[in-house]
Amino acid sequence: MITKPRLLVTRNFPPDVMTRIKHSYDAITNEDDHPMDMAEILRLSQDADAILCAATEAINAELISGLPDRVKMIATFSVGYDHIDVPAVLSRGIRLSNTPDVLTDATADIALLCLLGAARMAHMSAQTLRAGGWTRWEPNQFLGVHVTGKRLGILGMGRIGQAVARRAQGFDMQIHYHNRRKVEAPGLENAVFHETRESFLPVCDFLSINCPLSAETKYFVNDDSISKMPDRTVIVNTARGAVVEDAALIRALKSGKVAAAGLDVFENEPALNPDYLELGNLFVLPHIGSATVETRNAMGFMCLDNLDAFFAGRDLPNEVKA
Ligand code: DGY
Repeated sequence: MITKPRLLVTRNFPPDVMTRIKHSYDAITNEDDHPMDMAEILRLSQDADAILCAATEAINAELISGLPDRVKMIATFSVGYDHIDVPAVLSRGIRLSNTPDVLTDATADIALLCLLGAARMAHMSAQTLRAGGWTRWEPNQFLGVHVTGKRLGILGMGRIGQAVARRAQGFDMQIHYHNRRKVEAPGLENAVFHETRESFLPVCDFLSINCPLSAETKYFVNDDSISKMPDRTVIVNTARGAVVEDAALIRALKSGKVAAAGLDVFENEPALNPDYLELGNLFVLPHIGSATVETRNAMGFMCLDNLDAFFAGRDLPNEVKA
């Protein structure tokens, strides 16, 4: 009898993904999808060969040092891996994979939703209507920020940043970006590369954050950077909450220095800073960038392709190496 590898699955992933997991693995599952803390993950991983987790689990150095030698691979159901202490994982000889590409389009769609929703006061106007507060059309009511022809600054011109740029060009926006290096990508020949933060910030009529969270990008949006952006800019974040210092953004939204913000992610998720809720110029979503059936299935299948490759002794198609 062939024994299947034992896989700790920390979340209840979409049904088609769970079916494939159970077909190929002896799975330790979390059917009611309760939050698993470190103690539970450590307890359940003692007889696991690999772990399939999500960005909701902090796979930190303490957890990694408590894993048994038997755990040889971690697959994360996310493109971002800031929740994982990568050096600690690699130094224990554990292999790691993530889910690039498959969520690019879905996330870029949500970035445009946030951009338009924030700029055009979608939250406040819809809320007023639903609450029965809209009594007549008025010339000065719900006036947003014009999008067409404006400069969009993209922080992080990887796959998602490029997909946001292509979509925004459809709204005749002029693309500027700040990235570690200049990007040569089809359709983005007119995008302007800014090597420095100093030249980038003043062109951000709109800012879309599409970079990973790192020591370098943490709190990129703070009092200082906001002060260098044009007045009445619009800030969009679909990457990681901590790229924005919430307190600074809230101050700027209150003062009007920032006209509006569209956030799919925020610091300390899922707890939203209550000061945000006082603001009519915030369009906010609960981290749904990758939330389509097709995308979540593709993410799950990509995790499994990597796990299957590992257990078959093949190269991982999406290995995180550093
Ligand atoms: C990702 O894949 O990184 C998304 O933000 C979901 O966590």
